[in-house]
Amino acid sequence: MNDQPFLDKVDALEFYVGSAKHWAYFHKNAMGFDMVGYSGPETGVRDRVSYLMQQGEVKIKLTSFITQDSEIGNHFKVHGDGIKDISIRVEDVDESVAAIEKRGIVKPGKISKIETGNGKLRASVIRSYGDTVHTLTDYSDYNSELPPGYDYVESRGKSSGIKKIDHVVGNVEDSKMDYWVNYYVKGLDFKQLISFDDKDISTKYSALRSKVVHYNNRKIIFPINEPALGLKKSQIQEFLDYYNSPGAQHAALLTDDIIKTVSQMKERGVEFLPTPPSYYETLKDRVGSIDEDIEKLKKLDILVDRDEDGYLLQIFTKPMGDRPTFFYEIIQRKGGTSFGKGNFKALFESIEQEQAKRGNL
Ligand code: FE2
Repeated sequence: MNDQPFLDKVDALEFYVGSAKHWAYFHKNAMGFDMVGYSGPETGVRDRVSYLMQQGEVKIKLTSFITQDSEIGNHFKVHGDGIKDISIRVEDVDESVAAIEKRGIVKPGKISKIETGNGKLRASVIRSYGDTVHTLTDYSDYNSELPPGYDYVESRGKSSGIKKIDHVVGNVEDSKMDYWVNYYVKGLDFKQLISFDDKDISTKYSALRSKVVHYNNRKIIFPINEPALGLKKSQIQEFLDYYNSPGAQHAALLTDDIIKTVSQMKERGVEFLPTPPSYYETLKDRVGSIDEDIEKLKKLDILVDRDEDGYLLQIFTKPMGDRPTFFYEIIQRKGGTSFGKGNFKALFESIEQEQAKRGNL
């Protein structure tokens, strides 16, 4: 029997948050997502409200609790706002589950089936790092992009040019990175992409180790970080301390015009990490010639990195919630297939300035 789970791509990110309404407002009005679905008491769901947001192929569910005894409320109390579910689309959930069981490392949950007027949606939940899960979702007998329990809403944002999810990064505990790489590679048939050690990604103060796993020709990319020792606390350890467990650190959203995307988001109130001005003085020496005007990049704090395949442009938001945990990355790839290793130093210096302001450095 086959032991390939035939995963397709990331289907959606579901956040458990303290106030879904406000997160939805921000995703729509600051980040340019459309609100396309709503689920709550009005749609027959008694214990939660959830907004389905979409931009390009990116689907985000923003879910909050409305009752006292709630799994979502408990999750929020422990972790604050964060990603609960990085769901993955599969062609045939029976085959996927059988293949994963055969591989013997990951235990898929019982296959659930929800029938609505749109057909049957079938899914199985697998647990990943911390309280994070992957819901393997099979749409093959289901005729709608709207999940069960959601009503269609048409509330359009002004698109900022986001096309799809490029990668989703997990932060795990010290010395657990290889455990989770094995979980994805041996348990789910992912391939490992590259690795670099903490000498590559460190500043004077804090460091991390990172490995990248991917599936289906990079349609699904999950880098995994663990803290490494520096003179002061690693930013990964700060995440773990505030999230109270491993969890999703950032999701990178792909655009094909980062200058437009970031200009628009900044105008509408999305806060990005500042970049030290000195970064741009040495940029040309580091990455060679690029199509973009460096002055424009500097004005917007956009970072550039080059690898053997080309270059990429990227920028990181400040944390999206109250705790210094989850943030977004905006990324544009111009041939570059890596993740901005050369920018870690510049990024770290910037993150550490913020960390120092919070008294955690
Ligand atoms: Fe990233």
